[in-house]
Amino acid sequence: TSITDPVTIDELEKYASNHLDKNAFDYYSTGAENDVTLRENRLAFNRIKLRPRMLRDVSHQDISVTVLGHKLSMPICVSPSAYQAMAHPDGELATVRAVRSLGTAMGLSLYSTTSLEDVALEAPNTIKFFQMQLYTDRQLMATITRRAEKAGYKAILLTVDCPLYGRHQGRRRFELPGHLKYANFSSVQQRKRFKSNAELGAHIIALLDCSVDWKILDWLRSITSLPVVVKGILTPEDARLAVQHGAKGILVSNHGGRQLDGVPAAIEVLPEIVNAVQGTGVEVYMDSGVRLGTDVLKALALGARAVFVGRPVIWGLAYKGEQGVKAVLQMLRDEFKTAMVLAGCASLKDITSSLVMRPATSHL
Ligand code: FNR
Repeated sequence: TSITDPVTIDELEKYASNHLDKNAFDYYSTGAENDVTLRENRLAFNRIKLRPRMLRDVSHQDISVTVLGHKLSMPICVSPSAYQAMAHPDGELATVRAVRSLGTAMGLSLYSTTSLEDVALEAPNTIKFFQMQLYTDRQLMATITRRAEKAGYKAILLTVDCPLYGRHQGRRRFELPGHLKYANFSSVQQRKRFKSNAELGAHIIALLDCSVDWKILDWLRSITSLPVVVKGILTPEDARLAVQHGAKGILVSNHGGRQLDGVPAAIEVLPEIVNAVQGTGVEVYMDSGVRLGTDVLKALALGARAVFVGRPVIWGLAYKGEQGVKAVLQMLRDEFKTAMVLAGCASLKDITSSLVMRPATSHL
């Protein structure tokens, strides 16, 4: 490392803002509407204070975890985020290589710029989850879901916070640059003979189905044997419904502040959701705003089995492709390990709710 190398995720974001073109950086960085939730995702983590314990023999450290029964080297995974080739030409291939070398898991976006099959071939033994959107075209949903199952993905991350796309101020309507592809939609592209990404993009936006209800989970489970993780839950009521409809995991998330502005930080609602599904065997994860090892510690103390990170991966890609994403995951891992040891925890089971102070002003 040279003295100018970024050593924190915030520095990587700064690097990305200076090096990516404006269309791309704005697309990746913005939140919805007035960015209230985007900011809150960081503020809520900062409000939580830790209660470290001393003299507890932390010489043998173990941060490995299982997610849906799959062993991972650490409780830090990659959230699905769209269009990664805009951040680096290797796009999702760079991400999955970095995830492979760290031994953790990757969520692949339905809107990846590399096909789900190519990502799978690049790292067949790496744990990968495929993100699905709710479309009026159920046949298309089923076809892509079965492709993901065949390619070896281990779960479907069903995004439920997106009956339409949130409004993003201060940026123009996003358009995927002409040299990149909606790589999972080549059959749609061929069938409809779209001539540009703009035409295909508009078609995909129009496919979003805001008429679905919880029965869609039963339908999804009827067409695939993969476990379903519901992504985008923010209330205990919905967490209970997800469990009733057979979800195997719940990803507490506000989509990185990109959908409904004004919702609380995911970390703030995590404890009540963990509490609501306790005893069901359903795993609870969180994303939205994780930037530091201490954030991971706080999320685990409040009941998350693992955290996911979205934008940090993009900043890593913008910095150095595969090496950059590796650097991001290593930073988070090393910071998390340091935080654990300083807090008196040797393994994940030592991380309990007594590790955090609850601010008097919130229901945390
Ligand atoms: C996303 N996210 C997202 N989620 C999803 O289900 N499908 C998708 O295609 C995308 N695309 C996407 C693009 C970009 C640029 C971002 C930043 C996010 C949301 C993502 O999975 C995750 O919930 C958030 O990114 C988590 O917040 P942080 O880590 O970015 O703060």
